[in-house]
Amino acid sequence: MSSNITQHDYHISRQERNRQNDHNSFVIWFTGLSGSGKSTIANHLEKELFKNGIRTYSLDGDNVRSGLNRDLTFSLEDRKENNRRIAEVAKLFMDAGMVTITAFISPLRKDREEAKKVIGQDNFVEIFVNTPLKICEERDVKGLYKKARAGEIKNFTGISSPYEAPEDPAVEIRAEEETVEESVERVIKVLKEKLKYN
Ligand code: PPS
Repeated sequence: MSSNITQHDYHISRQERNRQNDHNSFVIWFTGLSGSGKSTIANHLEKELFKNGIRTYSLDGDNVRSGLNRDLTFSLEDRKENNRRIAEVAKLFMDAGMVTITAFISPLRKDREEAKKVIGQDNFVEIFVNTPLKICEERDVKGLYKKARAGEIKNFTGISSPYEAPEDPAVEIRAEEETVEESVERVIKVLKEKLKYN
């Protein structure tokens, strides 16, 4: 914790921004294995919200890791730091009035709990993209599972690094049992009340 820091209040509050936008802001936190479909569903969800006049912003694993978090590896310690920074950034976007969508593996329950604490329990909507490892590995869109099995990538989630499924997600998506559109529709149903500014 840094010393000699004095936080000050901003003149425009999140509530005022929410009122002007005519919807609440919060964070939709996707979690799931690599190749589970997090980014695809998150992108479709954002498009659908955006189309309906909702102010949105997306933070995605590969993108954030090539910029803000490019100093981080895939050790559990660095994944924790990755998740911590994402939570802080997501909170800033939420405070700016955005419905903020994050799509990171975020494999550990305790790290996601920390994110929930930073963002606030009521502002945190956890979505579990529950695609079994077997299917992610069969798809192997980026060829990473093959490399992980061959020992060319260390600490690969599901192979040589743990993934802990959420216990009580707001929505659980079984991507192999429904279309992306159906998944998005189910998520939006859960968000409807939350979005309403009153
Ligand atoms: S984490 O666990 O939340 O810190 O991971 P995240 O920031 O979401 O980054 C996941 C993407 O990084 C690529 N990649 C790996 N994933 C898992 N384990 C290892 N070792 C690894 N190395 C690279 C991979 O493309 C992930 O993207 P997604 O979209 O999840 O497939």
